[in-house]
Amino acid sequence: MKFTLVFLAIFSAVHQVSSLPQKRATVCNGHAEFCDRSYGNITYLGAHDSFAFSSDPLALARDQEVNIPSQLNLGVRLLQAQAHVKDGVLHFCHTDCILFDGGTVQNYLTTVHTWLLANPNEFLTFIFTNPEGASLPDVWDPAFQASGIAPLAYVPPTVPMKQSDWPTLGELLDSGKRVIVFLDAGADTDRSVPYILPEFEMVWETPFSVTDSSFPCSVDRIAGPLATTDHMYMINHSLNKNLLGTGIIVSDPIDASTTNGVTSILANAAGCEPLSAGRAPNFVLLDFVNLGQGLQAVNQLNRV
Ligand SMILES: *[C@@H]1O[C@H](CO)[C@@H](O)[C@H](O)[C@H]1NC(C)=O
Ligand SMILES: *[C@@H]1O[C@H](CO)[C@@H](O)[C@H](O)[C@H]1NC(C)=O
Repeated sequence: MKFTLVFLAIFSAVHQVSSLPQKRATVCNGHAEFCDRSYGNITYLGAHDSFAFSSDPLALARDQEVNIPSQLNLGVRLLQAQAHVKDGVLHFCHTDCILFDGGTVQNYLTTVHTWLLANPNEFLTFIFTNPEGASLPDVWDPAFQASGIAPLAYVPPTVPMKQSDWPTLGELLDSGKRVIVFLDAGADTDRSVPYILPEFEMVWETPFSVTDSSFPCSVDRIAGPLATTDHMYMINHSLNKNLLGTGIIVSDPIDASTTNGVTSILANAAGCEPLSAGRAPNFVLLDFVNLGQGLQAVNQLNRV
């Protein structure tokens, strides 16, 4: 009798555990087919200087017109931003905080965290730049922790990871890890914050500050032991203008609808294929993501 009761108790406990509904993402970043595709085999729409948004056409240092939640709602899944220390606090600023101050990194990340909580089947990548070499454990990690993003950040089993080795988007979402964080400088030498990953060991980039609208493709920034074709890659698809011949380079919203058109983006991607074993770019980084057809171009590259 006693034995039967114990047995029944154990049986019902086991039964309850195994009959819990299994959390499984069936739509990943808006598409069922992405759940079974490796993170490294998807093209993501990116917002260059995502924090530098302003609807004021006279704000010459802006690179976006709409705010972060709006960018994300337009389909942006890579957020790029440049960090500078201002009065001892990490801010996202364009070249200099006097030119464009996008506020603290912590506030920015908190905004993104709020969006992530409201959008549980979405996966984001950050590519942040660290030109002043701010400390990973003392400056970057506290901002990620305070914003709530740190527990969502994926730590790969090895660094660098080959393009073909990343888990599927479904596996990542099921594990609760919904963010990948790349930093351009610092994470190669300091691995003390495991989720902050060295960008160029895993992602190569085309040149920046391009003023040639045909976007000739070349490998501009790359690092680490992996072959070029084992890296993911990003096309820096923003066209700059030499401001009234002054040599000052600014981004130009007037050209953005052409630059961000399907024709221009697909031509840039095609120009890179000889360097990437025929693969499409992983990241298409745009200024003024609300103009043109960025998402349409990315969907075509993804064949969805
Ligand atoms: C994903 O793989 C397919 C098939 O090999 C390829 O055509 C496509 O370009 C790849 N995309 C990326 C971003 O790797
Ligand atoms: C992309 O281009 C811009 C200038 O157009 C440059 O500031 C930036 O560093 C480049 N790379 C990234 C990752 O944003």
